[in-house]
Amino acid sequence: MSKQLFNEEELKKIEEVKSRYPDSKAALLPVLWMIQEKEGWISSESMKLAGDLLNVPYEHILGVVTFYTMFNDKPKGKYHLQICTNVSCMLRGGYELYNYISDKLGIKNNETTSDGMFTIEEVECLGSCATAPMMQVNNKEYYENLDNAKAEEIISKFKSK
Ligand code: FES
Repeated sequence: MSKQLFNEEELKKIEEVKSRYPDSKAALLPVLWMIQEKEGWISSESMKLAGDLLNVPYEHILGVVTFYTMFNDKPKGKYHLQICTNVSCMLRGGYELYNYISDKLGIKNNETTSDGMFTIEEVECLGSCATAPMMQVNNKEYYENLDNAKAEEIISKFKSK
């Protein structure tokens, strides 16, 4: 990634976000999200760029990126499957679902299949407890009331795209 990561319009948007706060550090989460939307993940170089734009030390940004599961500090597969194993999901088969998908794809937590198609991640509650167990795909699509057969169907659909 180069310093040209953001185009002029995006840089204007960043300036607008910064202007909402007395301290530009407060714009860090939206800026990191913009980077991830563009790149799919947030590299060290991108973290340094965000630090330059917002006058925030790299170490602080690294701490933020590695703390929040919504941020990826490594490239992910085309399909990033986040499977919830928190209480409601656990009680309704979240671990069985996670293990099924892990075995099916032959990867463990935060690993990516060799073809670059899938990454799996065990995550905490994603706010869909009433429709547990669930998984989120690529930070936006929710698949709910899952069982192994439904998970199999979803994975097959992604493989055929
Ligand atoms: S416990 Fe899984 S979505 Fe809340």
